[in-house]
Amino acid sequence: MLYKNPRGIGCHRCHGESGRGLVLGRYKEGNETVVIKGPDITALSYKKFYQALTSTNHKLMPYYFLTNKEIKTLYFYLKAKR
Ligand code: HEC
Repeated sequence: MLYKNPRGIGCHRCHGESGRGLVLGRYKEGNETVVIKGPDITALSYKKFYQALTSTNHKLMPYYFLTNKEIKTLYFYLKAKR
């Protein structure tokens, strides 16, 4: 529930149904095609996962106001899905 509706846009919209990542779009910059992706978030350490969700300087990903307990819940949810 939290993964799909975390008081904001669902994580699955950018990271995929099971957190394995998703291509969000592509655009051309000169001759290069730039791919915008939500990365795979199933193989991270808890420390990295936690840092990503408590940092405010993402380019694309929104900042969520999640409690430590909620972050832990999300982490184990994704581990269980693997
Ligand atoms: C609007 C799209 C979008 C949504 C929604 C989103 N993310 Fe992300 N997320 C990204 C992108 C893009 C990155 C990589 C670039 C960056 O850090 O901004 C990222 C990075 C991350 C990382 C760090 C990955 C790494 O390798 O360090 C984690 C962890 C993460 N997201 C978890 C989540 C969780 C959990 C949610 C839901 C609460 C969520 N994201 C919602 C787009 C999104």
